[in-house]
Amino acid sequence: MDKKILVTGPFGQIGSELVPKLQERYGKKNVVALGHRYIPEDYDGVLEQGGVEDEGFMEDLWKKYDFDEVYHLASLLSATGEKRPDLAWKINMGGLKNVLDLSRDNESRVFWASSIAVFGPTTPLNGTPQNTILEPVTMYGVTKVSGELLCQYYNEKYGLDTRSLRYPGLISWKEKPGGGTTDYAVEMFYKAIEGEKYTCFVREDTELPMMYMEDAVRGTLELMDAEEENIGVRTSYNHSALNFKAGELVEEIQKYYPGFEVEYEPDERQKNADSWPNSVDDSKAREDWGWDHEYDLEKMVKVMLENLERKLN
Ligand code: SER
Repeated sequence: MDKKILVTGPFGQIGSELVPKLQERYGKKNVVALGHRYIPEDYDGVLEQGGVEDEGFMEDLWKKYDFDEVYHLASLLSATGEKRPDLAWKINMGGLKNVLDLSRDNESRVFWASSIAVFGPTTPLNGTPQNTILEPVTMYGVTKVSGELLCQYYNEKYGLDTRSLRYPGLISWKEKPGGGTTDYAVEMFYKAIEGEKYTCFVREDTELPMMYMEDAVRGTLELMDAEEENIGVRTSYNHSALNFKAGELVEEIQKYYPGFEVEYEPDERQKNADSWPNSVDDSKAREDWGWDHEYDLEKMVKVMLENLERKLN
């Protein structure tokens, strides 16, 4: 029998790259994209439209499709979450609660996106361990820590198969990120290619864990493919690839665009960035289900520029 898959947040930065991969695997008719406001004109697949926090709507959706697996990506990110904390709580927590309840009642498997935003200023800054202090300063981070605990609770209490990754800043060219703190790392590429000066909203020495999207999507699918007995973490796995300072990314881009200019004008997002680690230790993911990244800084910058040049020209 065909597997039915639900993707929430299907047209965001991650979803827009995960959905085609899921369609390839399970067939177009079996992957349901639950969009909200923004629906790309060229989207080719099964489409539903509504809010993840709407309990009745989500219940009807499950009745209609009887999902086997859910990729729950819909979320307000860190910068938007600071502007609208109440809405962030409503969407991030309300959405996850609905997904977990319906998955429990209908025996669906769940993937949920967590983030390095679960960490905070009291967390060890370098090589952040899997099990550590989680005292985030953003509402986004608060919802991610609460969500991780909820996922673990549903696994322990109800035996629900919940799996999750603490994504670092994700670098991609297909869809722009929206409302996050790590967005500068993507914006830079656009400005370099467009021949414009970039005003970076974090300091030059701001260092954060990052990952090329292809790695992130592959990691997500590998985690979902892993045998259940190998999953030792039901909150969310540290998931890491590379770390760089904003200035180091600029230097790497300048190898291709020597005239690329950047000035630094930190804004309120600097505080979020400062509260997150420089690097995280993801050895648990590597041991449990064989995670390994493919893209380092050089390779990521090269491929990003090639793809984005093609897209923009
Ligand atoms: N990229 C996200 C953000 O900046 C972190 O998960 O909000």
